[in-house]
Amino acid sequence: MKAQSLVFAINGERFELASVDPATTLLSSCGPRRPTRGPSSAAEMFSGFPSSIVILQSAGFLPFSRGCGACVVLLSKYEPLSGEIEDLSVSSCLTLLCSVHLCSVTTTEGLGSSKGSGGFHPIHRRIAGFHASQCGFCTPGVCMSIFSALVNADKAPLTVAEAEKAVAGNLCRCTGYRPIVDVCKSFAGDVDLEDLGLNSFWRVATVDMLPSYSLGGGIGTFPDFLKAEINASLLDSAPEIPQSAIASSFVGSWYAPKSLGELHSILRSEGPGNRLKLVAGNTAAGVYKEVDRYDRYVDLRLIPELNEIRGGDPAGFVEIGAAVSISRAAVALEREGGAVFCKLATHLRKVAAEFVRNTASIGGNLVMAQRGKFPSDVATIFLGAGASVSIEVGFLRDAPIDAGKLLLSVRLPSWAESAGGERKSKLVFETFRAAPRELGNAVAYVNAAFLARVAAGEASGGSVVESLRLAFGAYGGRHATRAKKVEEFLTGKPVNSGVMLEVIRLLREDISPEEGTDHAAYRVSAAAGFLFKFLLQLEEEHGGGGSVRAVAGEKETLLLSTGFQNEHISFSNGEVSAVDRSGSQREKLPPSRQAIEGSSTEYHPVGQAVKKVGAEIQASGEAVYVDDIPSPIGCLHGAFVYGTRPLVPVKEVNLKNQTAAATEEPVAFISVRDIPSGGKNIGAGIMAIFGDDPLFGSSCADYAGQPLGLVVAETQRAANAIARKAEVVYEGEITGPPPIMSVEEAVERNSLFDVPPFLQPTSVGDFDQAMEEADRKILSAQIVLGSQYYFYMETQTALAVPDEDDCMVVYSSSQSPERTQKIIAQCLGLPQHNVRVITRRVGGGFGGKAVRSIPVATACALAAFKLRRPVRMYLDRKTDMVLFGGVQGDGEDHGAANGDPRRRGATPDLSPIMPLNISGALKKYDWGALSMDFKICKTNRPTRSAMRGPGEVQGTFIAEAVVEHVADELAVDPEAVREVNMHTFDSLRRFHGPSAGDPPEFTLPAVFSRVVATAELRRRREEVRRFNGENRWRKRGISHVPILQPVSLRPTPAKVGVLGDGSVVVEVGGVELGQGLWTKVAQMAAYALGHLLDEGGALTFSIVLIQGGITAGSTTSESSCEAVRIACNELVARLMPLKNRLLEQLGSSLTWDLLIGQAAMVSVNLSASTLFCPQGQAVRYINYGAAVSEVEVDLLTGATKILRSDLAYDGGRSLNPAVDLGQIEGAFVQGLGFFMSEEYLSNSEGLVTTEGTWDYKIPTVDTIPKQFNVELISSGHHQHRVLSSKGRRSERRGRSWRRWGAEPPPAVFQLDVPATMPVVKKLCGYDNVERHLEAALCR
Ligand SMILES: Cc1cc2nc3c(=O)[nH]c(=O)nc-3n(C[C@H](O)[C@H](O)[C@H](O)COP(=O)(O)OP(=O)(O)OC[C@H]3O[C@@H](n4cnc5c(N)ncnc54)[C@H](O)[C@@H]3O)c2cc1C
Ligand code: FES
Repeated sequence: MKAQSLVFAINGERFELASVDPATTLLSSCGPRRPTRGPSSAAEMFSGFPSSIVILQSAGFLPFSRGCGACVVLLSKYEPLSGEIEDLSVSSCLTLLCSVHLCSVTTTEGLGSSKGSGGFHPIHRRIAGFHASQCGFCTPGVCMSIFSALVNADKAPLTVAEAEKAVAGNLCRCTGYRPIVDVCKSFAGDVDLEDLGLNSFWRVATVDMLPSYSLGGGIGTFPDFLKAEINASLLDSAPEIPQSAIASSFVGSWYAPKSLGELHSILRSEGPGNRLKLVAGNTAAGVYKEVDRYDRYVDLRLIPELNEIRGGDPAGFVEIGAAVSISRAAVALEREGGAVFCKLATHLRKVAAEFVRNTASIGGNLVMAQRGKFPSDVATIFLGAGASVSIEVGFLRDAPIDAGKLLLSVRLPSWAESAGGERKSKLVFETFRAAPRELGNAVAYVNAAFLARVAAGEASGGSVVESLRLAFGAYGGRHATRAKKVEEFLTGKPVNSGVMLEVIRLLREDISPEEGTDHAAYRVSAAAGFLFKFLLQLEEEHGGGGSVRAVAGEKETLLLSTGFQNEHISFSNGEVSAVDRSGSQREKLPPSRQAIEGSSTEYHPVGQAVKKVGAEIQASGEAVYVDDIPSPIGCLHGAFVYGTRPLVPVKEVNLKNQTAAATEEPVAFISVRDIPSGGKNIGAGIMAIFGDDPLFGSSCADYAGQPLGLVVAETQRAANAIARKAEVVYEGEITGPPPIMSVEEAVERNSLFDVPPFLQPTSVGDFDQAMEEADRKILSAQIVLGSQYYFYMETQTALAVPDEDDCMVVYSSSQSPERTQKIIAQCLGLPQHNVRVITRRVGGGFGGKAVRSIPVATACALAAFKLRRPVRMYLDRKTDMVLFGGVQGDGEDHGAANGDPRRRGATPDLSPIMPLNISGALKKYDWGALSMDFKICKTNRPTRSAMRGPGEVQGTFIAEAVVEHVADELAVDPEAVREVNMHTFDSLRRFHGPSAGDPPEFTLPAVFSRVVATAELRRRREEVRRFNGENRWRKRGISHVPILQPVSLRPTPAKVGVLGDGSVVVEVGGVELGQGLWTKVAQMAAYALGHLLDEGGALTFSIVLIQGGITAGSTTSESSCEAVRIACNELVARLMPLKNRLLEQLGSSLTWDLLIGQAAMVSVNLSASTLFCPQGQAVRYINYGAAVSEVEVDLLTGATKILRSDLAYDGGRSLNPAVDLGQIEGAFVQGLGFFMSEEYLSNSEGLVTTEGTWDYKIPTVDTIPKQFNVELISSGHHQHRVLSSKGRRSERRGRSWRRWGAEPPPAVFQLDVPATMPVVKKLCGYDNVERHLEAALCR
């Protein structure tokens, strides 16, 4: 049977493929992250190869997180009869290539570029101008989400509120989102420009200073040639060949039937195999990470019956075809109107993210829910709304019953809002959802939909329930379910406190999570909270509602007590307003603010908020990351196989256990046995005194997640598939002592790493005497902090290319290329000069690529060395999470001033630096006397490396926990404890020695009180008090914390050369991770060489890397800049005499080109290199900051909302305030993730069980502070520093919210972090509703 060809357009170019593996995704064929070589990249990808031999990557094995938004593209469809074009944002890692037949795809490269005639698109330029791209890895996806909103807005004007939601599902780990939101808002028709943050377009805002935008920015999303082809096919009278596949290859075929009849005939026909898959949006691939392959894929989306929305008024129902997307269903329901349909639509818009909803079908979702254990929202809310489904049974021959049914449609009844009769009744419908993030791609812990008809009670007023549907889902049952016992009990009853109490108790019998459900008690308790809210609302419907509140004597209005589930903070008229469900405003908050205090032009352009070097090409997809480098000929791909059982002897790694097709044979399995003689089993190690990490486990894995070897195959897909299915065969049981799985065991067995004396913190004062003299003593307390996964958007990756004479060139995404070079050389037994490591830019590091990138590069180099072929590797998110986690801290704190913090891991990595870092931050207060004993425990858990602010985050948290603990013990306000223990300059010197600097440098008291003023702390404290007095189910807390952070500078090299044409090459030892290093370096070089320039003269720069240690610790930019300044000064010193001589001779101005030309003539050395070695007070100094945060807690669900955060940071004289503000905001938001949402879990054997975006929740645009004010203070006193600057570690947030806990409150309030919804709800009391109702009844 001859297949048709697959035809589509990418960025306006036509592609026709006759042979395609139907499991190929759009990402693997044209993704914005690869190949990024300008607008013609897609053409390059396909041209030059006969289409039959194009090898494309298949679904199921991609490095992407599926749900992160980095690969969003615009998919456009043309409807020939109406001539309309539909433009949708879609996730290209979930979209199958065959499903874009006759569609057009636009990537960020198609919007504009540095090369195209139109230049960059206004979106690219605004991203750069608003400083909204740091590492840039997420930026192409962000651009396309914005573009999609704009293209659709050209059909209806975009508002600020819509603009913000455009990026609701896009993850960015660097920026903290605020500048991205500014870009979105800048395109809205109703934007107030004054509300937009720091940017490089204006000092005084006017619209015409923004890069102008109109109607898609001149981009046509659907090319005429494709329209013509589609129109011509309509005229073509040749009969369709129903069985014909759109595309096929030797691994399977793709069918797209246009009627149910055609579908049946395809199913009846003899296909190339029996394994068949129905496909609608294919987004289930993002949920189940399916690796199975099928012989035939049948696309359901062209079958009219499955794609229609029927009914509506006056039919009495709306029927939605199974293949209709969730987005389309939401629009249709909203258009239909009525309370039930509108609320369903609102809820549907919280499912996944827009770029998922646009292709995810209603039917696909329900089928996933029907098959069980999928926490579907759609199933629950449709169940609550009384939906019925239409199913075609048994159309798949011999298939198991659940897979053998075709879901045709869902029918939703139209509910009359009120009904006559004896007593007039009202219809009330609500949906609820408790999820880690409200909008950004997070499935619910529990969801619900309640529909009731209530009539007025006869005697006392209030409401009587006439009929009721209560649907609950995602709570840990197999399916969404109705709470039948509760429904029966309530029907016919009045709604009052007594009934509510009975109902809540009864609910626990109806809603019973299955054994092993995570957070089971939380889910049930949140479900009870939903029902309680609903019942309060019912009680109000007929004028009742006094029972609970009046008895409780609260001032709270019903609106507040019941309204906040659906309330949202909306951004309108330039002000943030809390808007309740009815739309009335309750309070107004001013817009977010960024301020730079005391900036100066003294060192121009140093100190200016210039935009980041390369930001536009990051936005347009032209920036080249390691994975964008085209594979050399003969390139192989690697994937790690890791052990899952610590210390259990490994007999072998069995790769034969494969069900994969024959094309997926491994080329080799590289293990410890392949290390050449003279080489060493070494995979990482940052300092010789800390010790090394083995590259591979040999006879056993020391910890679950330790690599045992590397599968090498022809494609990344094949390597990943084989590695994932590889079987590690264990032999017998552990022979020696059992693995150490906790710090307690490690201490007991004295399994500890050494901390070198120079990294041991010093004690302060006489601790024993201080304790003896203390009136009150806390003798022991414990704090447990977990790990944080880096979640850099670019996972670990490397490409190793063997060169002549046993040389190896390795492209590595690394924060320490020099160390990588050394480890590779040691592993291969080569001199270091044989190995060249190249790092151009890194797609996010946060410390995770300081050490943990090295084993990836080393494994590639070893395989390439052995096989004499290039080998590359790009870790999938799951493997990256299992192998490489962030800091792990298990701190126990004994006594208010005697710490014994402990950390754990199998190898030391960077852990020996933790004592010094923790103690540095811990010394933020004057504790009087302090004694510390740190233990770094050697356990059989995965090695954990340093993550942004390693130790400082933990030290800050411990210090604040001590303050709160003391406050609890003394029953005083923690603020009073903070004030009493705030450092004076004398105490600072006692605790920090020379790092304290000179008295004028001690700006903490000023910064601390400044934020009190700018955050209006005193007024808002009063408001919080008032709010808490008036509200029972929402509480607010406000907290004010100082930050003190010692940082150290390291020796750093630089080389500056002026080339023959006058252009300048600057070489620095630091790596560009998104932190703006290149930008600052370029500014510094321009400043330092500017002494040689005439006014208005400009230089062109190129910045490259020389081997220069590790890029970490927040000071690499600063020290690199200083090294560059010294090298430039050297050049200035050499050139200035010549310049003066020439000026004298010429008597007029002298151009740079002439000066350089003359310098060459007289043999001036135009290259200067240096090693900047910080001296004296410049080696270690302290940064100061302060923050105020206000948080609201929903006591019924445990949801938290950060209403406002004010940060002030003394950055000395900032080298680039825009870059520094971005670092501060980004770090703060990363800290929010650590403290509020990111759960990095492992099983009892230590194997990490969180696998990706699905279960690891980093902050999104809807979880950042609603009002986010940051002030950069330029104290300018630091004469010993680089042009008076300071490093910006951008302290991640400590404990900055205060408790509102269960009753009776515990003597000491202990908040475990991350403070996820279940953790917070537990502190509020799982049974707080019952206790409240019981109390109400007793009064
Ligand atoms: C990142 C992400 C976040 C998500 N968040 C949520 C969330 O918060 N809440 C929620 O409810 N869901 C969520 N989902 C799930 C999402 O809604 C479903 O993946 C989607 O609706 C499935 O539809 P689809 O068209 O992509 O199905 P497909 O992936 O194409 O198919 C799914 C399964 O159903 C079968 N199938 C599809 N249509 C039919 C039919 N008509 N008859 C018989 N079998 C059929 C397919 O063979 C396949 O086995 C999320 C998904 C992702 C990827
Ligand atoms: S800029 Fe968004 S992930 Fe780095």
